[in-house]
Amino acid sequence: MNELAGKVVVVTGAGRGLGAAFALTLADAGCELVLCGRRVADLDAVAGLVIERGGAAPQTVALDLADAASVRRAVSRIGALKQRVDILINNGAMWLEASAEPYDEADVLAVVNAAVTGTFLLVQGLRTAMDNSDAPDVVTIGSISGLPNAALQSVSVPFYAAKRGQVALADGFRQAFSGTKFRSILVNPPYLDDAQPGQDDWEEAGIRRKGRQATSRDVVEAAIFALTRPRHVSLAIEIGADEGGLFETA
Ligand SMILES: NC(=O)c1ccc[n+]([C@@H]2O[C@H](COP(=O)([O-])OP(=O)(O)OC[C@H]3O[C@@H](n4cnc5c(N)ncnc54)[C@H](OP(=O)(O)O)[C@@H]3O)[C@@H](O)[C@H]2O)c1
Repeated sequence: MNELAGKVVVVTGAGRGLGAAFALTLADAGCELVLCGRRVADLDAVAGLVIERGGAAPQTVALDLADAASVRRAVSRIGALKQRVDILINNGAMWLEASAEPYDEADVLAVVNAAVTGTFLLVQGLRTAMDNSDAPDVVTIGSISGLPNAALQSVSVPFYAAKRGQVALADGFRQAFSGTKFRSILVNPPYLDDAQPGQDDWEEAGIRRKGRQATSRDVVEAAIFALTRPRHVSLAIEIGADEGGLFETA
């Protein structure tokens, strides 16, 4: 039985990378998708791939998580398109690499606002549509960088703090949802190699040897595992890998 068939799923940052892998996999599972991100042309390209693979035509919605007004517009657009949202995948986040030079103020604001403020406002804004679902799930893609005492590795301090905040959001939602029908699911990926359904890298990702870096396929499959657990459990999953994982020392 495919438990995900017919679910209405909103995916943020769906135009490339992990978000696109989520979109294609969930469409293959029979979900109805709303794809969100800043670059609508990228969302349209992913929507085209979904249709080519035989999935239901996704809706696309412009969303800049770093801009509260854009989040408000996106919430209203999603509400106009779908009466019910079953699953929200909080995948979109801005990357900011460590630099010896001072960071641009706009980048610092954007990285924190996209991960924390925008993620929170989107969950809050979609609450009514998710209340129309019998089994609403909020899935947040954090990072091993967001875990307490994680090594900084190659990430900037603002990104590190933003991801810690996003992990705290998922933990906070889990407590706030206690006793309700909502679940908060958290997946913390390590450094990833990109892999996309329908491409050789996706097949290769399924047979990797120990020691290799994790891939977007590992994250998508971890989230689907969590989504398909009985509803009394809300999983928080840290994905380990010898290369690019929390405890890598080299
Ligand atoms: N790749 C890794 O090694 C890794 C490791 C740990 C965690 N993660 C997490 O996994 C998620 C996806 O990462 P990825 O590897 O696919 O990264 P990516 O290739 O950099 O993609 C980031 C996605 O987020 C979207 N995005 C960025 N800023 C946004 C904003 N202000 N508003 C809305 N969307 C925004 C981008 O779309 P637009 O530019 O079109 O808006 C893009 O689709 C992120 O949360 C990331 O932190 C990734």
